[in-house]
This record gives sequence, C-alpha cells and structure tokens, in this order.
Amino acid sequence: MPIRPGDTLDGRYQLRREITRSSRSLLFEAEHQTSGRLVAVKVQRPGRARNPKEHTAFMAQARMLAACTQRHVVRLLDAGAIDLTLDETVNVPYLVMEMLDGHTLEGILGGRGTMPVDDALDLGLSLCRALAKIHRAALVHGAVSPDHIMLPPKLQDELPWAEDAPVAKLIDFSHAARTEAGVRIAPGARQEGMEYQSPEQLNEESITPVSDVYSLGVVLYECLTGNPPVGRIIVSPHKLNQAVPKPVSAAIEAAVQREVGERPQSAQAFAEALSKSPPAPPPRKLPKPRRQEGRRAAPRAAYVTPVQIRRDVGLPVDARCQNISVGGMMVVSGAKLADQERVVVAFALPSSGQAVVAPAIVRWRKAARNGVVVGLQLEKLSDKANEAIDQHAKRQQGGH
Ligand SMILES: Nc1ncnc2c1ncn2[C@@H]1O[C@H](COP(=O)(O)OP(=O)(O)OP(=O)(O)O)[C@@H](O)[C@H]1O
Ligand SMILES: [Mg+2]
Repeated sequence: MPIRPGDTLDGRYQLRREITRSSRSLLFEAEHQTSGRLVAVKVQRPGRARNPKEHTAFMAQARMLAACTQRHVVRLLDAGAIDLTLDETVNVPYLVMEMLDGHTLEGILGGRGTMPVDDALDLGLSLCRALAKIHRAALVHGAVSPDHIMLPPKLQDELPWAEDAPVAKLIDFSHAARTEAGVRIAPGARQEGMEYQSPEQLNEESITPVSDVYSLGVVLYECLTGNPPVGRIIVSPHKLNQAVPKPVSAAIEAAVQREVGERPQSAQAFAEALSKSPPAPPPRKLPKPRRQEGRRAAPRAAYVTPVQIRRDVGLPVDARCQNISVGGMMVVSGAKLADQERVVVAFALPSSGQAVVAPAIVRWRKAARNGVVVGLQLEKLSDKANEAIDQHAKRQQGGH
C-alpha cells in the first residue's frame, strides 16, 4: 500500500499534498487531525526503511533535530513509525516538522540572481547562530545549501521586528552526523549540491564544524555575487559586487578557503568576522525588482511542489514549482524549455491538493545552476482552481 495524499498517517496526520520527493523520502503537507495545524511530514521510502541501517539513520534525524532546537532551525514537532504491509511488513519511520510558508533560498536566487547586501548579511548571521547551536550539540549539518535554507514570505520587504515573526530557517538533517567519532559524509549524495560541499567532504575525509562554515561561505558568496566561487583562485566578492563591504568580503573569502586551517574556526568566529563591517545604514525600502517582460501582476506566493511538464516532443519532464500566482508559476527545470514554448503542466493545487492539468506558455526564462528557471503563464485553469491559488496567496500575505 503506497503512502499518498488523502491517507491519514498513524491515525493523526492527514496527508494533503506531496511537497517533494527524493530517492530516500517523501515529504507531504499534512493536517494534524486534532489541532488542525498544518505540518510537514517526511516519510522514509518503504524500500529504504527495510534496510535496518537506513531505518536507524532516518530515526536518528529526530533526535538530532530535537537537540538543535533554535530559532533558525526547522522545528521538530513529532516523530514515529508505522507498520506498512507490502509483500512483508515494513516499519516505516516519519518526522513531523513545522510547515514553513516561505521560499527556499534556491527559489529566491533562481528568480533574482543575488540578494541585497543587508539581507544576505542578516541571513548569514542567522545561519551562523543556527550552526553554532548544531555544533554545540556535537553535530555537523553536512548539507548547508540554498535548497536547505527557507526564507519567510516577506524577507525582502520588511524586517522581522516581532518576536514571533517568521525567520530564515535551516532544514534537512538527513546528512547530519555526530562529530565525536570523526565524521565522514559521503560526497555527492546530492549531486546538485556538490559546489557547497567542502573539499574535505568531497575527498571523503573527516568533516568538522568548519566544513559547515565552508558551505555557508559558499552560500553567502552566491547570494552576493550570483554564483558560487569557481576554480582554485577565489575572486573576492567585493571585486564582483562593489556593494559588498570589504570586511564582509574578506570574511566570506576566508570561509571558502580550501585549507581548513585558513577558514574561521567556528560559526561564531565567522559571525564575528561578518560583523566587522561598518554599521548598516538605516532600513530603507528596497528597490522593487525590475519586472521582466510578460510577468504577471497578480501577487505571488511561495509554493514548492512537483510539476510535470509535458512538451510537444519527447517525454514529460519533472520540474519544481517555487512560487505561484493566479495566472502563473515560476518553476526550476532541468529541461531546456524554449522561450514562448507551449506546454501542458500537471500539479497539485495549494490548499486542496487537488491535481490539475493545464496548458501553459513559457513567458520568460533564465539559466540557472541546475537547468533553467522559467515563468509559466497558466492558461484555462478553472475558476475553482484560481480561487484556491488566490486564497493561498492571500493566506501567505496575511503572514500565516
Ligand atoms: N518544513 C518544511 N516546510 C515547507 N517546505 C519544506 C519543509 N521542509 C522541506 N521543504 C521543502 O522541500 C524541499 C526538500 O526538503 P528536504 O531537503 O528536507 O528533503 P529531501 O532532500 O527531498 O529529502 P531527504 O531527506 O530524503 O534528502 C525543500 O527544499 C523545501 O522546498
Ligand atoms: Mg534535501
């Protein structure tokens, strides 16, 4: 019996829609039956759960996440396991986390290329705090990368003044490990994340908290310059983007050094180096990003979901939606979609999780690290479908 939307997991979590899937797990948006709270449930794939080593490793994520409770780390709410009867009975573990509404940093960089310096610095300091907590718990995260950083819906527009305002959070502890016995994390477990992995991780040597500092350095380098550093000679971020203050540039340049000893030796040391810049100017309204030809005016809301794109020729391709509006969606795709290409998209609607299939046109496209980011104009969606999208956008704008 597969696990799919509509099922109630462990009698408590009603699965509403699939957010994403990897070779190891399935991630669902779900509703806690008793409280009505929306949560994110990660379920190990039964085929993986059969292997006792992988079962134990998945379960260990729950303890690691619980040990790292911090404002900038995704919050674990529950964990458990269910018995699934396939050709034999398999005990399948799952994790329940807070459902985060915003965009991944991957989505932000895909759409905009870079981030304003103040926002990148703010993000860097928040993530240093998250890493400091993780390292104090004798763990390394092992996979700090833009798709493991979630930003709140409105980070670009306002400062998070309120105590409970949504903030940037680090997710995915599936690569995390204890540092006591010397950690080795297999490189390339996620091929597309290789540029964020430290040289020691790629060489299958032991990694340490300083390896996480390297990965965060690469992320910040990309936030400020548009790309991770290339090759052995590192161009300082300031040379590529004059708006980056020299001390910030120097801190990031140090963090991405190949030699472990040349980097800041802890997340705290990296935070201190990043903070050496002159005080930031008073908050100002950031310039609105230039609208590209054909972009829709309707408000966009973050919405990560798998999308199948069917083209006139060839097999359907898998893509990942990053945000949606009435009339359009932004997706990251490995396929080279052409400008103005007509396609058909299949995806699950926000809120209801109902599957829809609709024609769409590629209105703009931009090369990205792992393929292209495209803006799709959705055509002929039913009024009901548009209403579900509109409600999702409004719910997010309300900050819930
Ligand atoms: N708590 C959450 N709330 C909302 N969206 C989430 C949450 N956790 C993850 N996501 C979304 O799902 C994507 C994949 O999540 P994650 O990296 O945790 O899993 P994975 O890499 O697919 O699985 P695995 O743990 O098997 O490697 C993220 O990039 C993000 O877009
Ligand atoms: Mg992941």
